[in-house]
Amino acid sequence: MRYIVIGAGAVGGTIGARLHQGGHDVLLVARGAHYDALKSDGLRLITPETTETLDIPAADGPVPARDDDVLILATKSQDTIAALAGWPEDLPVVCAQNGVANERMVLRRFSRVYGVCVWLPAQHLEPGVVAAHGHPYSGMLQVGRYPQGVDDLAEEIVTDLGKRGLVARAVPDVMRWKHGKLIGNLANAVEALVGRADGMATVVERARAEAMTVLDRAGIAYNTPEEEFQVRGHQVDVRPVEGVSRGGGSSWQSLARASGSIEADYLNGEIVLLGRLHGVPTPVNEVLRREANRHAREQLPPASMPLETLVALIDERCAAESR
Ligand SMILES: NC(=O)c1ccc[n+]([C@@H]2O[C@H](COP(=O)([O-])OP(=O)(O)OC[C@H]3O[C@@H](n4cnc5c(N)ncnc54)[C@H](OP(=O)(O)O)[C@@H]3O)[C@@H](O)[C@H]2O)c1
Repeated sequence: MRYIVIGAGAVGGTIGARLHQGGHDVLLVARGAHYDALKSDGLRLITPETTETLDIPAADGPVPARDDDVLILATKSQDTIAALAGWPEDLPVVCAQNGVANERMVLRRFSRVYGVCVWLPAQHLEPGVVAAHGHPYSGMLQVGRYPQGVDDLAEEIVTDLGKRGLVARAVPDVMRWKHGKLIGNLANAVEALVGRADGMATVVERARAEAMTVLDRAGIAYNTPEEEFQVRGHQVDVRPVEGVSRGGGSSWQSLARASGSIEADYLNGEIVLLGRLHGVPTPVNEVLRREANRHAREQLPPASMPLETLVALIDERCAAESR
């Protein structure tokens, strides 16, 4: 099998590196300065244990396909459609992304789609360099066929992922896992906007409570943070990596890199969408979605909004909703 990792950033770079270290054929797909660095110097993976430079083949777009190719999609959700342009639609696509919208978007064009619930704290530091903070494994991945089930390919992918530096398991209900993870990822926008300010947890709890009401109304199953912790808590720990401070999660990193976009439409925005479809007000997630997008668009740095400002905007929206 050849694993083609589309979007070899924090998560894609780590997964690609671990598959390569496990002896698999890997191709990293990247763009711009990151592609140039991968092509000329290889991928540098920094972990709490070691730093390795890996000579992994790289491409900046679609390459001639092989029968045994598997596409691992690891872009942010807002880049999913563009990143898959030009790849043969009979290849299997494995969505190693947060949110729950990617699999459905991809299934419109690709007939074999797999979801991965990704717990893998990592950072794309600079072109050609990725830091993965998980210890003793870089991450934990639950893999399943979309919309449900486990087939032979899912089992094979899990075996390959688990060979080096990752914990992987096949689950028949991957979207239940991903909806549980989505609830956790509602904090991403809060962290990106206000940083890890005292009192941030109260906003996060409000966003999560709203999400659980919406998911319950929609009849969508999700696992609880307790269930998730039971599975991952004993296996992967977040550790500092020498010389690298992990400022925040992937949305925080989007603002830090002034990338101009952020994943909030597919995290908080997913709850807003479901709320609108099922008649549940979602003022907290609406404000988080809107403000995260504004900060990305205006290229404001992470943690640039005072917590009180965010709380005031949310309270104002909640009051308007209840009038
Ligand atoms: N980072 C984490 O700790 C973490 C943990 C769990 C889950 N996740 C999830 O994993 C997914 C990926 O996040 P990430 O943090 O790894 O993002 P990331 O570091 O920004 O990596 C995504 C990569 O995809 C590239 N890309 C986007 N469109 C492309 C295209 N058309 N062709 C080629 N490359 C393209 C980006 O390039 P540019 O830089 O040029 O845009 C970037 O290098 C997200 O859904 C995120 O929520 C992240």
